[in-house]
Amino acid sequence: MKTAAVYFSKHHGNTKRLIEAIAQNYPVDTINIAEQPEAELEGYELIGIASGIYAGSFAKQMIKYVKNHLPPGSRVFLISTSAGPKPNYERTIRKALAEKECTVVGSYMCLGFNTFGPTKLFGGTAKGHPTDEEISGAVSFYEGLRAE
Ligand SMILES: Cc1cc2nc3c(=O)[nH]c(=O)nc-3n(C[C@H](O)[C@H](O)[C@H](O)COP(=O)(O)O)c2cc1C
Repeated sequence: MKTAAVYFSKHHGNTKRLIEAIAQNYPVDTINIAEQPEAELEGYELIGIASGIYAGSFAKQMIKYVKNHLPPGSRVFLISTSAGPKPNYERTIRKALAEKECTVVGSYMCLGFNTFGPTKLFGGTAKGHPTDEEISGAVSFYEGLRAE
């Protein structure tokens, strides 16, 4: 299954670690949209959309990327890391995907080390995350999607 994973991971590279682990185990083309904001995604059967959570949402750069570059009708999966995962962190990205008639086939969320704002004064939160288990959890999640 020809797969790409686009990601935005600017805080500590937490989300990037999950994507890299998947790409080490499976043939997945990875695209950092901070470096390639105009990357085109024609011809992929499955597209991962991965981001750290910033102010309760996938990165605004990712929302914009989805609106401008994701082929309509794509099959996608979501991956995110945050200081405290909550389902509503996917609300904005899911709305943008629904507007493009994309199908979300699965989503994976886990903790990611956070030193935003005053949290850095006491060493940050979610220290040590994503853990090795959370990273291999992302690989298993992707494995499950391939099996469907
Ligand atoms: C500007 C900013 C805003 C954030 N807002 C939230 C938030 O609303 N909820 C949350 O749980 N974590 C929040 N975090 C923590 C990040 O989601 C977490 O550290 C994530 O793993 C960062 O991913 P990255 O290293 O891939 O960029 C925020 C971090 C930053 C830098």
